[in-house]
Amino acid sequence: MKKFLKRLAAGVLVAALAAGLSGCGMATSGKRIIRISHAQSETHPEQLGLLAFKQYVEERLGDKYEVQIFPNEILGSAQKAIELTQTGAIDFVVAGTANLETFADVYEIFSMPYLFDSEEVYRSVMEDTDYMQNIYDSTDEAGFRVVTWYNAGTRNFYAKTPIRTPDDLKGKKIRVQQSPASVAMVNAFGAAAAPMGFGDVYTAIQQGVIDGAENNELALTNNKHGEVAKYYSYNKHQMVPDMLVGNLKFLNGLSPEEYEVFEEAARRSTETELTEWDKSIGEAREKAKTDMGVEFIDVDVEAFKEKVLPLHEKMLSENPKIRDLYQHIQEENQKMKGGQ
Ligand code: GCU
Repeated sequence: MKKFLKRLAAGVLVAALAAGLSGCGMATSGKRIIRISHAQSETHPEQLGLLAFKQYVEERLGDKYEVQIFPNEILGSAQKAIELTQTGAIDFVVAGTANLETFADVYEIFSMPYLFDSEEVYRSVMEDTDYMQNIYDSTDEAGFRVVTWYNAGTRNFYAKTPIRTPDDLKGKKIRVQQSPASVAMVNAFGAAAAPMGFGDVYTAIQQGVIDGAENNELALTNNKHGEVAKYYSYNKHQMVPDMLVGNLKFLNGLSPEEYEVFEEAARRSTETELTEWDKSIGEAREKAKTDMGVEFIDVDVEAFKEKVLPLHEKMLSENPKIRDLYQHIQEENQKMKGGQ
């Protein structure tokens, strides 16, 4: 029922957006309303990052713009909200790179399992804004552009029964994001991939439609998956960032001075999100363990890695667009290894 009401409310809102408010929504104050959609709850680091974005924009350009943030997929799942951003019905959306793969296949790189050797390498690659700009521009043809990234942690398997070795994945139905590369990955692990939207995962586990899913620790608490899946295994297969994506027409319509404000607001939102992220992981673990009874399992990561490493060659041969970035990340992995 709750879900039905949520969908109904979203439907009404989206219909209103499509019917007329489209993109250039004006408040009665005459301000241009900027709408941002995301999939997380009001306490999630991304919401806090977006509040920093809102604050910075409104402090500097508040006579002209009002930023409105829509959490909890109320404007629709990531795929839907990306489409709304594409058409300009809304202005920004936070979406995982897995959801961007169908718009620009360079984003498949982030779904490649065991791509980064460590969280340090991951962060340093993502924080290299000059390097990332090329990639950020890759969806221009689709009508939107990435303006910054948010940390979404390391993805691990969790299920109703414990996964201690890769063999435990056999015959299990595991939800993945709607990303061809993630489907291939979970199948290579020996499980059966079930792609679906984030908002459908809780019920699917609860009703036994799937056995489990894979995500960061916040999925257990912020999205309450820990109520229905009690075993979380640290096999560490992916670090998939979330992206703040803006409608290109909107971004191009800003004056150079305004653009700079939005750019700085995006940078600050990432800074806030990263700090909040680091705090939230420990808290989520503690809450999942103590309040929800989730067991955290340390596994032999190498055994899991072995299963899916052949995917690197396969993905590289099938998608030339990811080769440069792959090479770059391998070099960064090596540098960190050598302690340079
Ligand atoms: C994480 C991530 C989201 C993504 C979700 C998912 O929560 O931050 O962007 O959509 O996982 O698995 O769908």
